[in-house]
Amino acid sequence: MEILHVSAECYPYAKAGGLADVVGALPKYQQDLGNTVKVVVPMHRTKFLYDNEWETIHKGAFMMASSFFEYTIIKEKKNKLGFDFYCVDIYGLLDREKIYGYDDDTERFVAFQIAVTDWLSKWEHRPDVVHVHDHHAGLIPFMMQHCYVYNNLAAIPTILTIHNAQYQGCMDWNKSNFLPAWDKGQLGLLDWDNKINPLACGVKCASAVTTVSPAYMAELQYSANGLEKLFEYEKEKCVGILNGIDSVVWNTKTDTYILSNFTSKDVEAGKKINKKKLCDDFDLDYEKPLFIYIGRLVGEKAAELLPPAINKAFETLDKKVNFLILGSGDPAVEKQLERMRSNYFGYYNSQIGYNEKLAHQMYAGADFLLMPSRVEPCGLNQMYALRYGTIPIVRSTGGLKDTVVDISEPKGYGICFNNASVDDIVLSINRANDLFADPKKMVAIQKKIMNIDNSWDKSAEEYFNVYQALTNAK
Ligand code: GLC
Repeated sequence: MEILHVSAECYPYAKAGGLADVVGALPKYQQDLGNTVKVVVPMHRTKFLYDNEWETIHKGAFMMASSFFEYTIIKEKKNKLGFDFYCVDIYGLLDREKIYGYDDDTERFVAFQIAVTDWLSKWEHRPDVVHVHDHHAGLIPFMMQHCYVYNNLAAIPTILTIHNAQYQGCMDWNKSNFLPAWDKGQLGLLDWDNKINPLACGVKCASAVTTVSPAYMAELQYSANGLEKLFEYEKEKCVGILNGIDSVVWNTKTDTYILSNFTSKDVEAGKKINKKKLCDDFDLDYEKPLFIYIGRLVGEKAAELLPPAINKAFETLDKKVNFLILGSGDPAVEKQLERMRSNYFGYYNSQIGYNEKLAHQMYAGADFLLMPSRVEPCGLNQMYALRYGTIPIVRSTGGLKDTVVDISEPKGYGICFNNASVDDIVLSINRANDLFADPKKMVAIQKKIMNIDNSWDKSAEEYFNVYQALTNAK
């Protein structure tokens, strides 16, 4: 089967969050299953772009409103990612440092989607499915079906995967002329609440819709940032497929970022060495349990609860714990987390920013990972933690619910709580502290979690089944 993935991010080329990890890994597994997989993303000015060789494979042009744009499709020459990898450059709009965050993001991503659709319409053959990710590619199914120039693509099945329904890419109706001439009878497909809503449009137009965990799929029917009714209405074509993790990139046995490689067999000794190094590097107390947080510092992840929860944990536990935080986001939270360094020197530290290498070292060296997320469509960090023998402490929501079982249950191995609140977090840190005081139990859990299989094998097969149902139905 031939599959074309369209996304704003793809690891290791360009990453802002979990979307990149998924789009960098799933296609690899699909390719290994015998499919022909292509991934196309906007051209961002990243290290990977400069470090690799590219060939131009297509040039084209389109009008967006009254502006004329030329675009170029380049392909990475050596198949470094394990699948065919393409970038779209659009003069004046793409080829920038950041993936998101510009005033003209709407124009940039609409133009990206037009360029991809235009390129696809010029292929001499058709792929079996077009798989679009999040709102940045959500208009593509509509364009394939209802823009007159792309009529030749109307019969190709499309699938939309929603990694996060909080972001929908809404734009005012005065931008409707950005799209190539479209069938005005289909206006309702673009609209949600009097705006053009690319995510909602994708849900309406794609042949199938998936979210990145079953629990999140169920939640969307009552909590979807305004799209609840749509998910209720379209539920027949929606399915939740849990993300996997790339078990080659995330492998304690071979990870070159960490000081000491280990497996579940020597987890106790292996984690000790990595913890010691991490604690030395960050002036932390090796004897005490080490709690980490890795991720974006935003409301969705309940990051603003970290400073008060850490303060309270230090108070109530008489500083018998360590915390190490890695992330960036809300400047106010960043500042608080930085300021706390001087208050709690010796058992607290933070690094503001994104650092893949340090993230690996933290998973390898920590005892517990905190994820108090308010919204977590899947969450990959808890799965990385499990694989690295770090016990996850999570709020039971979305994919966290599907991947972490509380230690109070017979088969449990993590710590779960219900409310995104300081009290629930501190209570869970207390529970973790009790567990830490029982080294035998800790090691038994570490061994168990390292052997949980969260790799892509199963999920890649589930996606394949969705594709097959669509291609059979054609
Ligand atoms: C988004 C979601 C996260 C998910 C990731 C990959 O970043 O917030 O929960 O794991 O996408 O699908």
